[in-house]
Order: sequence, then C-alpha cells, then structure tokens
Amino acid sequence: MKNLLTMEGVDRATLDSLLDDADEFYEVMHRPIPKVPALRGKAVAMMFFEPSTRTKMSFDAAAKALSADVVSFSPGTSSLKKGESLKDTVLTVKAMGVDLMVVRHKSTGAAWRVAEWSRLPVVNGGDGAHQHPTQALLDSLTLRQHFGTLEGLRIAIVGDIRHSRVARSDAWAFTTLGAEVTMVAPPTLLPPDLTGWPVTATSNFDEVLSEVDAVYVLRVQAERGGASVFPSVAEYRERFGMTDARMARLKPEAIVLHPGPMIRGIEIDAGVADDPRCKVLEQVTNGVAVRMAALFQLLGGSRDE
Ligand code: NCD
Repeated sequence: MKNLLTMEGVDRATLDSLLDDADEFYEVMHRPIPKVPALRGKAVAMMFFEPSTRTKMSFDAAAKALSADVVSFSPGTSSLKKGESLKDTVLTVKAMGVDLMVVRHKSTGAAWRVAEWSRLPVVNGGDGAHQHPTQALLDSLTLRQHFGTLEGLRIAIVGDIRHSRVARSDAWAFTTLGAEVTMVAPPTLLPPDLTGWPVTATSNFDEVLSEVDAVYVLRVQAERGGASVFPSVAEYRERFGMTDARMARLKPEAIVLHPGPMIRGIEIDAGVADDPRCKVLEQVTNGVAVRMAALFQLLGGSRDE
C-alpha cells in the first residue's frame, strides 16, 4: 500500500490485513506501557485544513504510540493567511524532512494532489464530502469486534448522506466486508445519483429499523449546507432522528454507531448517546488502533520489533 486515500476499490484482503494489524495494535494500546518502537526515526506531518478533534488527535496518538515524531500544521496561524498556496505549504513541510502526511481539507481530491506534489505516502483524513478511509476502518473494526464478522450484517446509515465523506467510505468498506447497506435519508439529503454505490436507499427509517443489526447515525453537516434542505430540526428529528423511542424498537443485539461529533437532540437523543449499545467511544479507541495499522503499513514498519 502506497497511500490510503479512499475506500472505493480497496479489496477484501487489504481491509482484512489492516483490521488484523489494528487488532494487534489494540492489544498494544492496552498494555501497561502502550508504546512500540516500530516507527522510531520516522516523522508524520498532520496537515489539517478543516476542524477536527478525533481524527487529528488519534492520528497524533497513533504515531506516538509507534514512536514516530509528529509535526503539526495549524492553518489559522500559518502563512496560508499571507496567501501561501496549498502546494507551497506542502513542499515546505516536506522540506523539513517528514516521511508521511495526513491531510484533511474541504476540497474533494485534496489528498490526491498532496500525494502528487509531495511524493510521500499520504493518508486522507477527510476531503470535503468525498472520502474518509480511516473512519471506515475504525467503524469496520468496531462492528467486527462486536459481531465477529461483517458478513451478512444489515446496516442502516442514516442522515445527511449527501454531504458525508463517512457514508461514502463506509458504504464501500462495509459491503466489501460482506454487509448489506441501506442509506436512510430524506430525498434532499441523498446524493442526486446513487448509481455505482453498492447500497439501497429509503426515506422510511421506521420501515428498516427493526431489521438491522447496526444503525450508523450521521451528523447533519451544516457547514456543507446540510441543514438548509429540511424544514425544521423538529421535523428532521421526528423522521430521521435516532430517538429513545426508536432505540426501543431495535433488535436487542443491535448497536448504534456515530462518527462524532454528536449533536444531541438533533440526529441522536441523549439517552441513545449514553446507552451501552451506542459504541461511539469504542469507535474512538478503535480509531487509534486502525490509524496505527495504517501508519505502520504505509511506513513499512517492521513486525519483528
Ligand atoms: C466526521 C468528519 O469530519 O467527516 N467526523 C470524524 O472524522 N469523526 C463526521 C462529521 O463531522 O460529522
């Protein structure tokens, strides 16, 4: 693997190998000293041009747990403010001697451009509404830990599919790993065309609720225009919110996932967010493990260490 930019077209063997390594790193994370020397001497640059809590901090934690050094770029206080281009910024950071870049940017395809310009391994930490591959890996790991396999699972992804890079990555990863995926959203929050997506779609959440093994709840992406396409928050919650009443109708063994940040009271009720069947914090822990696996594979770490 040279880069980790998308989940589309990534084969089953590659996904399995990343998740298997993530299982091993999950075990490392739970040791008394949760650190291994696998990437000693390597430096990872965090290039986050969009806000992030989980993704940025967990890449940081993952790199450090592998003994890599981390340099972080902060757009708000950088020379971007003076008009420096993305390309010059990337070449500047490369010239400091980094070995890999993690990139989050509002523009679709940004991580591909950074890979071309830098000629370094690049991990896409989210490009606009397009892809977020490590999110799909951590979601897949969470499902695999809980159910043993994704084979045969029915998963509903609910909410602002249209603006969601998480949905675009999860759809590929989940189905490649053997699950069936249904997108649940008002027509205005579905992509204009689902041709080529490995999923079915419906606007009737209650119709699929009692049949699924997992409900994946998405935030309404107001910053990408998501909130302007339905009449009111109350109406959205009524039809598409993961409410306490809907929680009661899930199969007893079904789980709820959310990529974070959760906006309680809109897409998810507080009672659901705090329910033990809501795996949002397990997802965060697994985020560190899968990012360790991705950095390890891209930087050619040695298993003997
Ligand atoms: C998501 C993102 O930024 O794409 N968050 C994340 O990475 N955990 C989803 C979101 O912001 O709603």
